[in-house]
Amino acid sequence: MTSRLHRGALLHFLDDPTKTAEDSYAYFSNGALLVEDGKVIAAGAADEVQTQVPLGTPVVEHADALLMPGFIDTHVHYPQLDIVGAHGEQLLEWLERYVFPTEAKFGDYAHARAVADRFLAELLRNGTTTALVFGTVHPESVDAFFDAAAERNLRMIAGKVMMDRNAPAYLCDDPESAYRDSRRLIERWHGKGRASYAVTPRFAPTSSPAQLAAAGRLLREFPGIYLHTHMSENISEVSWVRELFPHVDHYLHSYDEAGLLGRRSVFAHCIHLSEEEWERMASTGCGAAFCPTSNLFLGSGLFPLREAERFGVEVGLGTDIGAGTSFSLLQTIDAAYKVQQLQGASLSPLKSFYLATLGGARVLDLEDSLGNFLPGKEADFVVLDLAATPLLANRLSHCENLFETLFVLSTLGDDRCIRENWVLGELAHERHKEFVDLSA
Ligand code: GUN
Ligand code: ZN
Repeated sequence: MTSRLHRGALLHFLDDPTKTAEDSYAYFSNGALLVEDGKVIAAGAADEVQTQVPLGTPVVEHADALLMPGFIDTHVHYPQLDIVGAHGEQLLEWLERYVFPTEAKFGDYAHARAVADRFLAELLRNGTTTALVFGTVHPESVDAFFDAAAERNLRMIAGKVMMDRNAPAYLCDDPESAYRDSRRLIERWHGKGRASYAVTPRFAPTSSPAQLAAAGRLLREFPGIYLHTHMSENISEVSWVRELFPHVDHYLHSYDEAGLLGRRSVFAHCIHLSEEEWERMASTGCGAAFCPTSNLFLGSGLFPLREAERFGVEVGLGTDIGAGTSFSLLQTIDAAYKVQQLQGASLSPLKSFYLATLGGARVLDLEDSLGNFLPGKEADFVVLDLAATPLLANRLSHCENLFETLFVLSTLGDDRCIRENWVLGELAHERHKEFVDLSA
């Protein structure tokens, strides 16, 4: 039995601050987190938690730090690591010019595994512990990813891309092979350790109605698996869907008619939706991934967070690497604030840190396991360094309360703020050591 007591400032969320401002979070400036066998036993004020600590329990002190649940990235593409920051295009041209050629390499397990290892190292050094991840059309890409995640004990959700039209032939499957390959991967990976499977049609333009129907069949046959796709990211994409599916009422309908909507269905972007689509997402329990650095980078548009709130659709944050430009959820929060500013809305830092933790867990239907420090939750947590840079230390010394501190942390913070990342109660990343290793 391994147990440790972590001492330091502690913050976690209990609910959405938009719904219940006062009781939505718990903050302890002199806090403690008791972890045993990878699970949270207790979290709270140090003097209260102390009474529950067995004699001889090792104590880890975290000075000038803030402990939070590990960040959750609700939409990201691991095979796009090598094309982050590809210049000059909007979505559809960017896919043709940069994405498809790089994804072509993932039929080779060794290549996929090497990229998956680099990708997971990036997640950890940015404070992320769980993600909903696109593979490529190749089953090897998913085997490589889950092998790499299992080696690090990470809770990850991923799947093979389904794509049978409007893409280069070298990247296309067909409805039958997509069904067969996905089914094999579900049987091999879903529920194995911390892995879960997501049926992953790329988006409606690259899947025939027959292939979307095959995705729906998998969802019916394997309760508990996820649906992960893109929707309404870009105006030209929305028009294209109207041409490709002349009989549907709107974009969401192309997925709805295939039986793809449900509590474990996550749609990335959701920028250009009608009220009817928001309503239908809410009534079927679908979640949305808000990917602000990606939306700005590709010039896709501004995510209407207030609409999602108005209709009651759960939202998480996504980095959407490689259209997104940072692995850091702190940087993603910073971009999310600016995207809301451009719409005349002021995103509270309490809300945005909720989105990066408990909100993400809710979108992924993982609230029972992740998202905060309630007893019994899996002990994935990040240690944020409040003195990571001279500018940050100086600016934080002028903050008068938690609200200001969080906001400055997201405005000035990035991977330099991730002092440590702990997975199931074990140290998985240590920034100080990284520098020692690099200079060795
Ligand atoms: N829509 C379809 N495929 C993609 C992709 O790989 N990235 C983004 N951002 N949007 C998409
Ligand atoms: Zn994406």
